[in-house]
Order: sequence, then structure tokens, then C-alpha cells
Amino acid sequence: MSQIKAFLFDLDGVIVDTAIYHYQAWKRLATELGFDISEEFNESLKGVSRMESLDLILAHGGVTLPDEEKAKLADQKNSWYLELVSRMTAEAILPGVATFFSQVHKAGLKTALGSVSKNAPLILERIGMTDAFDVIIDGTKISKGKPDPEVFTKGAAELGVSPAECVVFEDAVAGVDAGKRGGMFVVGLGSPDVLTQADLVAPSLAELTVDEVLSKSE
Ligand code: BG6
Ligand code: MG
Repeated sequence: MSQIKAFLFDLDGVIVDTAIYHYQAWKRLATELGFDISEEFNESLKGVSRMESLDLILAHGGVTLPDEEKAKLADQKNSWYLELVSRMTAEAILPGVATFFSQVHKAGLKTALGSVSKNAPLILERIGMTDAFDVIIDGTKISKGKPDPEVFTKGAAELGVSPAECVVFEDAVAGVDAGKRGGMFVVGLGSPDVLTQADLVAPSLAELTVDEVLSKSE
């Protein structure tokens, strides 16, 4: 019998492919500032909060700006990002998510969203998945972003389960670290060469079953 009682999911890049929209919006901003960001550099932004991402990008381009200017740039990026998000429908849900969630609910597991995005509730509404989660922890409910474990430990606490009873699903290096630091079993979705700290790695939820995750997390 598995001790696992809850599955905690990241949003961007796990449930829905908004990771590409974040990248496109940041790339546009970098171009306006006179430099470029690569896909490889973008890996270090995944799972990282909006302002921390901006700081990393500015440092990457060797640009120093006062706080008010930074706030304006972050707002600009967010409005470009929201333009892309506003066109999103349930079709943007990643392959395998619907099947996986029906297995999760059938198995009686609790579910939480653990995203540092302040736009997470809006995105869940657009794709019609708000009701798929028992608890939603987003960027407005936490004080520390990933790799700090707060987003996941808060989710576990609100669900009334211990970290050892949770499995985290993450596509980002910072998110995998957050889950591990929170004392949870972490499934990395992406490349094993990138998500080296994950306990189990698969290309996406489409290649996994709930039974397989439960048996590997024992
Ligand atoms: C995470 C993304 O889910 O949310 C990051 O992986 C993003 O790329 C972060 O920076 C914050 O999102 P938002 O929507 O609040 O700007
Ligand atoms: Mg992610």
C-alpha cells in the first residue's frame, strides 16, 4: 500500500504549455533592451518569480536599472504574456493531462496546484481546470518563490497531509529543487539531463500512469 495521499502539480509546463509564452515575452523584452536570451538560459527562468526572472535577465544582459524602471519592464512583460494567454483555450492543456487527472481522482488522491505565477487562477479558468484542484497555491499566496519549498509545503499543509505523503510534478530545475527541499518525492517532466535531482523523470504526463508513480514512490 502506497503512503502517498496527494499529488502537487506545477502549472506552467506541466498542465499547460505557458512556459513557451513566458519565454516569448521575456525574449521580446530582452530584444528591446538590446540583447538576446537563449532557450538554454530560459531553463534557469522556469519556475522563478516574475521579478526574480527580470533580475536574472538584466544581469545576463549586463543592464542595471532603478526599481521603478524594473517594475515597468515587469508590467510590460506581463501584458505581452497576458496577450498570449488571452487566446488560450482548453486545447492548450498538455497531452496526457486529462487522462492522468481522471486516474488521480479515481485513485482518491488529493490534488494541489503549486505555482509561483500570479496569473495561475486566470489560466486555470481559461482552460477549465479550476475544479480539478482541492487547493490552489499561487504567486499571491507565497512570500518565497521556487527553489524555496514554500509553495509545496503550504499546499501540503492546506490539504492536511505531510510532505512524505506527497508527490510533486515539475518541469523546472527550481521546482524540482523546491519539492526535494520540501521533503517530497519529485517527478520531473522533461529531460533527465536537465532535471537531474528528480526522483523519476518522464517526457510528460502522457508517458506516466498514476499506478506507476505510486509504485516508484514507495
Ligand atoms: C512560473 C513560471 O510558473 O511562474 C515562470 O515557470 C514565471 O516562468 C512565474 O516567471 C511567475 O509567473 P507570473 O505569471 O506571475 O509572471
Ligand atoms: Mg513549470
